[in-house]
Amino acid sequence: MQRGYHVAIVGATGAVGQEILSLLEERKFPMTQLSLLASKRSAGRMLTYAGEEFPVRELTESSFADVEFALFSVNASISKAFGPAAARAGAVVIDDSSAFRMDPHVPLVVTEVNPHALKCHRGIIAHPNCSTIPLVMILKPLHLCARVKRVVVATYQSVSGAGARAVDELDQQTRALMASGPTSISVFPHQIAFNCLPQIDAFGELGYTGEEWKMVRETHKILEDDSIRMSTTTVRVPVFRCHSEAVNIETEHKLSVQDVRQLLAAAPGVAVIDDPEKSQYPMPITVTGRDEVFVGRIRQDLSHDHAINLWLVSDNLRKGAALNMIQIMELLCAENRR
Ligand SMILES: NC(=O)c1ccc[n+]([C@@H]2O[C@H](COP(=O)([O-])OP(=O)(O)OC[C@H]3O[C@@H](n4cnc5c(N)ncnc54)[C@H](OP(=O)(O)O)[C@@H]3O)[C@@H](O)[C@H]2O)c1
Repeated sequence: MQRGYHVAIVGATGAVGQEILSLLEERKFPMTQLSLLASKRSAGRMLTYAGEEFPVRELTESSFADVEFALFSVNASISKAFGPAAARAGAVVIDDSSAFRMDPHVPLVVTEVNPHALKCHRGIIAHPNCSTIPLVMILKPLHLCARVKRVVVATYQSVSGAGARAVDELDQQTRALMASGPTSISVFPHQIAFNCLPQIDAFGELGYTGEEWKMVRETHKILEDDSIRMSTTTVRVPVFRCHSEAVNIETEHKLSVQDVRQLLAAAPGVAVIDDPEKSQYPMPITVTGRDEVFVGRIRQDLSHDHAINLWLVSDNLRKGAALNMIQIMELLCAENRR
């Protein structure tokens, strides 16, 4: 008989927290108890799970007694402050912030790509950035077959990747501008409605942003290969949900367009929609709410014999966040490592 678990969602009121709640219900994850945690501001708010109301409680060090899985979806400083305490209390922590991703003692896991890394967890498991996840899911099968040498990627990232307040900001700015009213800016450095911002996170080394460096470093860690050369440009676009990426991939051994289509169509968690004559390709509006990473526009790079261009779209709140966290939990339960 399947047993149930005590699950805590840290950041339950946030964009990812809300998606975790709805996916736990959709996937019928077996639970005996559900603890919803957020800041003091949200304490007492009620959230619905499977038709029942649950209270949100303030996150404290003592929130984790008897918790078996703690799904952390808060900013990195809160994860650093409370994640180790949750692990010490006996919970397996699955954290989707950047707090522990590059810690050599913490596995960074995409369930279809490197599930073996879970074996060495010591109580904390990190979940990658929402742009890294779809990228490594399409790179892995190509790397195994033809060795990926170099990747050049530009992202088109939705506002929900920056949290619930960012979604409100795009909504409010769009309405205000359509009504010729004044707009206000608080989450992003500039107006996001009717605009594109070539900056996600703060600028760092060599003029690349934190988000751009995360994609490089996390890809190397997950694929266990630092030799892949990468160049990244991350852009915020006025789309509510789903991140898109234009990707150029150079391989050591030549892959035809047909080879790439076949490899990706067979890859777990990846779906190919690629019929240019019928204008069929993945788009945020068709990928919203879907679990798979969708790929299209697969074509030969005109400037390089051993390189392919493609376009991918993935729901950042599902595979880019809540879904991968729950899949990690499901794998641990299936392997009885909880
Ligand atoms: N959004 C995505 O697509 C995505 C994808 C992958 C990873 N992530 C990562 O997931 C994390 C959360 O992202 P999000 O988009 O869900 O952000 P969000 O919508 O802004 O939600 C933030 C959550 O953190 C809680 N929180 C804030 N301060 C707190 C405190 N002092 N103590 C306890 N809880 C506190 C908030 O609770 P209150 O409502 O009480 O303020 C809210 O539940 C971030 O680290 C982000 O990088 C996000």
